[in-house]
Amino acid sequence: MTAAPYDAIVLGAGAAGLMCAAVAGQRGRRVLLLDHADAIGKKILISGGGRCNFTNIHTAPDRYISANPHFAKSALARYTPADFLALVEAHGIAWHEKTLGQLFCDGSAKQIVAMLMEEAAKGGVTILHGQPVHEVVHGADGFGVTFGERRFTAPALVVATGGPSIPKMGATGFAYDLARRFGLKVVEPRPALVPLTLGGDDLLFRELSGVAAPVEARAGNAAFREAALFTHRGLSGPAILQVSSYWQRGDPVTIDFLPDAAPGWLVEAKRARPRATLASTLAPLLPARLAQTLADRLALPGELAAQTDRKLVDAEGRLKRWAFHPNGTEGFAKAEVTVGGIATAGLSSQTMMAKSVPGLYAVGEAVDVTGWLGGYNFQWAWASGYAAGQAL
Ligand code: FDA
Repeated sequence: MTAAPYDAIVLGAGAAGLMCAAVAGQRGRRVLLLDHADAIGKKILISGGGRCNFTNIHTAPDRYISANPHFAKSALARYTPADFLALVEAHGIAWHEKTLGQLFCDGSAKQIVAMLMEEAAKGGVTILHGQPVHEVVHGADGFGVTFGERRFTAPALVVATGGPSIPKMGATGFAYDLARRFGLKVVEPRPALVPLTLGGDDLLFRELSGVAAPVEARAGNAAFREAALFTHRGLSGPAILQVSSYWQRGDPVTIDFLPDAAPGWLVEAKRARPRATLASTLAPLLPARLAQTLADRLALPGELAAQTDRKLVDAEGRLKRWAFHPNGTEGFAKAEVTVGGIATAGLSSQTMMAKSVPGLYAVGEAVDVTGWLGGYNFQWAWASGYAAGQAL
């Protein structure tokens, strides 16, 4: 066999792999980037409704979930949202802040893929795609990868094949299988940023399919104030997607339907409009169908004047902490990301290299680091890709 013409092989031409390959290439490394998909950066293309929410200016380590909450700190500090924004601006891509620090392209997510491809080209990166990766081995000549009919070797291998969310886009659990083969541990992956499904008593809420309301949703210790959406299968919308990443099977998700209401507001309402019903009192505050359903379930018929203050205080408490009992999620088919992945305990937080396998790196969603909704996951992909790209 001839000497390896590459210094590194990066598996997966998604967000993290493209960034890693471009950075390493521009540092003079000879990089081969391989992907099995028919197109490069497919998840980037569908992200943010086609406009790619490429970062979040409020990026901070506490907005990431990992078995080791400190792991992401180093990479996030060394490649920040401002760094990515500078790249976006250098490529003349127009952008805007939508809400909550979320930055989107004005035009199209295609611009982000084109930008990363240009950066990779500047670094002389060879990109091949559209063939399966049959085999990955590690021997005296470094890492060997069989891609389609061809075999490549290099002293370094970067696993950037993402997580299993949205399998129909080419997503696989490949990274986990590979990691396990090299003796790395994997934190049990589960779907995250995913709609929750309802059953049992909560089924009645399915009638509200299509109704959305600004709420505060809570699972465990995490609380998010954004919109919740009722669907024909259960609950979705940004507030629910956010808490889904923290939700553990069997736990309730509680919703505060009136997060701005002052304590005692319902008793106040009775004093101000004693002839009003609970439904008509809720109607100006919530979407009409939701107001009616909640009033029906609270079962306080007739005028407010007919209710004791205690009953009204209890009703107020239920509206503040309405407990839903999801029976599951819509799974990887609908999940935006994966919680869990290659255990960070086996990786260097500086370089993303496996501590026990010199030359093996893991970046992006494949690693047990998961961001909130709103550009945080791409920022992790850029930052971890950059960290490895600097180290190769
Ligand atoms: P990514 O999945 O991007 O790339 C992995 C690559 O590896 C793919 O190109 C895949 O084809 C390839 N691959 C997989 N298995 C392979 C194998 N066996 N052999 C060879 N190649 C293989 N985040 C955010 O911050 N802002 C947003 O707006 C959105 N929007 C969004 C919308 C939707 C619908 C989804 C599903 C996800 C998002 N995300 C997001 C999340 C974001 O897309 C995700 O966090 C990053 O793409 C992760 O980047 P990676 O490079 O790690 O994986």
